[in-house]
Amino acid sequence: MKIKKTRTARRERNSPPQDVFSHLEVEIKKLDEDHWQDYRNLRLEALQGASVAFGSSYEEEMTLSEADWKKRIPNALFAFADGKPVGLIVFVFNRRAKTRHIVDIFSFYVKTAYRRKGIGQMLLETALAETKAQKHVIKIRLSVNPEQKDAVRLYSKFGFKTVGCLEKELLVDGRFYDELVMEKYL
Ligand SMILES: CC(C)(COP(=O)(O)OP(=O)(O)OC[C@H]1O[C@@H](n2cnc3c(N)ncnc32)[C@H](O)[C@@H]1OP(=O)(O)O)[C@@H](O)C(=O)NCCC(=O)NCCS
Repeated sequence: MKIKKTRTARRERNSPPQDVFSHLEVEIKKLDEDHWQDYRNLRLEALQGASVAFGSSYEEEMTLSEADWKKRIPNALFAFADGKPVGLIVFVFNRRAKTRHIVDIFSFYVKTAYRRKGIGQMLLETALAETKAQKHVIKIRLSVNPEQKDAVRLYSKFGFKTVGCLEKELLVDGRFYDELVMEKYL
């Protein structure tokens, strides 16, 4: 699957629209397996910097092999800005006969310095458009720590509804966190 989408995001919050230097070119694209290290670096940064946002851990994914990253990369969409990957979202099509109609979203992350410029929205929009293109898919599902307020707000804005709460689902540094289960029908 080839995806490439370029758009201009605002570089600074509240910057005047007439200021051409305030704009940031953002490209949303897939990467081929030769770029597995870009994927690894960004994902490990996410797991380290926002560990309570994800079910997986830095320590676990640190040990994944080159082959593992190459196998995973076709499911990942990247946001590029300033010549580097700054954001990531993973969407996985279920293969089993009874759940082929569901897509799962994971690993949603934008580097701290690039947040609140619309990049997360671009990633989510593109992932949704790709899943919609597969006519057999009717539902997208994800889980999110309710303390990740920007993520929850963004999912809600895109029409995801909370359908449940998994209590004490994550244990990070000795503290339990709930996970909301959110779904969106296409
Ligand atoms: C969740 C996450 C990916 C969102 O990324 P992002 O690039 O900041 O998302 P966006 O910029 O599209 O939207 C975030 C907010 O910025 C606002 N925003 C977007 N462009 C803006 C602009 N030019 N000026 C001002 N605000 C802007 C959006 O409206 C949104 O705010 P709102 O929800 O109050 O409406 C990011 O916060 C992140 O990586 N969080 C840590 C990891 C995480 O929680 N992942 C979710 C796992 S389930």
